[in-house]
Formats: sequence, C-alpha cells, structure tokens
Amino acid sequence: MHATTGGFFQVINHGVPLERREKLELASRKFFAQSTEEKRKVRRDEGNPLGYYDTENTKNVRDWKEVFDLTVKNPTVIPASHEASDNGVKEIVNRWPEYPSELREAFEEYAKEMEKLAYKLLELISLSLGLPANRLNGFFNDHTMRFRLNHYPACPVPHLALGVGRHKDGGALTILAQDDVGGLQVKRKTDGEWILVKPTPHAYIVNVGDIIQVWSNDRYESVEHRVMVNSEKERFSMPFFFNPDHNVMVEPLEELITEQNPAKYRAYNWGKFFANRRLSNFKKLGVENIQIHHFRIKEESSY
Ligand code: OGA
Ligand code: NI
Repeated sequence: MHATTGGFFQVINHGVPLERREKLELASRKFFAQSTEEKRKVRRDEGNPLGYYDTENTKNVRDWKEVFDLTVKNPTVIPASHEASDNGVKEIVNRWPEYPSELREAFEEYAKEMEKLAYKLLELISLSLGLPANRLNGFFNDHTMRFRLNHYPACPVPHLALGVGRHKDGGALTILAQDDVGGLQVKRKTDGEWILVKPTPHAYIVNVGDIIQVWSNDRYESVEHRVMVNSEKERFSMPFFFNPDHNVMVEPLEELITEQNPAKYRAYNWGKFFANRRLSNFKKLGVENIQIHHFRIKEESSY
C-alpha cells in the first residue's frame, strides 16, 4: 500500500481475484449499453433508492453520469424517513435487471471480496490509531454497505460538466475500481490543486470517508474529490461504500479523547445522515446537503 494524497491510497496486493472484477465490469458495460427505456425498468424511486438512475445531483448540480445502485446485504434495514422524529425503519432490496442475467451473481461474488478487503483495511486503520484491530468491527453487524456501477458517457462539452461534482464520501471507507480512462481527481490540501489519480491496472483506490474522520477525531481526513468527463471516451467505475449500521451514533472514539484533545464533533446518527444526504441528491434543493462540519464542535476562541 502506498499513499498518494493524504486520505487516498492505491492498493495493489489486495488479493481480489481479477476474474471476479472483470466479470462484473463486463456485466456493467452490457447493462449500460442498453436503451434508456430498458434501463428505466429497474429505476429507483422514492421508496427504494436502489436501482438505475441518470439524474443525480452532487450539491444540487446535475452530474454527467448514469448509475446503478446496489445494497450489499439484501435486504438492508434503513430509517423509514430522513425525519429526526421518525423512529420507523424499512427494508430495501436490490432490483435485478433482466439483462445481463449474470449481473446478480457477478455482483454477489465481487461484493464478498470487497467486504473482506474492507475489513482488512478497517483493522489496519484501527491498529494505526493505537486501538485493538477489531475495535471498529462492532459497528458493522447490520451494515448498510452500498455498491455502485458508474457510467460516465463521453461529454461534448467537458469544460462545462463534471462526472461527479466535488464532494467527500459520507461513509467509513470507499474502495473504488476505475478503468483505464482516468478522470478522478483529489484535492491536494497544501495548495488546493486538483490532482489526477492515474489509473493503475487492477489496483483499488481507497479513501477514508467522513465517519473515519469523526471516529479518529480528525487524525484521518476525508478528502474532497471529483470526476472530470472526457470528450472522446466513456468511463466506467465501481465504488464500494463501506458503511456501518443505520443506528450507529457516529462520534469521536472515547479512547482518543483527552483533556488536551477534546472531541471535535457531536454525535450524529448515521442512518439519518445518509437519508438526508440521499434526499438532497434526489431532489434539487435550494440548500447545500448535510456535511459533518454541521456537527463540528466550535473551538473556544482565545482572546
Ligand atoms: C463516488 C466517487 C469516483 C469515480 O461515487 O463517490 O467519488 O471515479 N466516484 O467514479
Ligand atoms: Ni466519492
């Protein structure tokens, strides 16, 4: 493993069998090559956010992409609504397209590999924080892990659009497989420059999300990133979002809190955070979507 830009890593000796990745990449290409009408047969709706859609907004700006969203645990329990006062839960299930018929099996096999890799990385992160390897595992018993197939079509006006607008991932970890086209950029902290994450064949790009930033009380940082589009080539990518149980209250780990280093965040409910994020992605709202800085405890001013 080697670091690229703080918070982003590429992993090479990850142990994920190449055949599994290639089988799913091929199924993804076949799925997106269909007509919009065909793809919309497995379109998501407000009741169930899983499935196909081509109308995502990042921070209220339309992205130049189409996606197919899947849950890893089928069914997955999530909050019934984004409302803080609503304690209800619901189950969501994957939608399977008729074509290609191998997509389901390809996904299920690949997701197992992603889970294994994610737990390995989680344990390494825990150790790096001076904690027992399994310290964080208990947050993932009834997890809300997600998987996404992304297709970024070639764009005639690449200077006017982004595949995904700048954002930070809200979950614990993201493990991304990108093809050889390139387009993912990471914001370098020192000077704010956008740095291209060069495609490395068969590697995975790993980034910590907001939850690990909060758990680690800012020792790890969730880094901003975005996706550029290309005027000639379409691009495919497959992020695996390693997310905890919907009822986890995310807050700095007590072992890392001292008088000199007090908690920098108030606790927040992961399921509600995610539901709010999704809501603002779903509808074009007039507000910026929910971010962890909304839970940041203001430092006492010293004057
Ligand atoms: C994401 C994301 C990057 C990519 O889906 O959150 O950052 O290269 N994707 O598709
Ligand atoms: Ni992202």
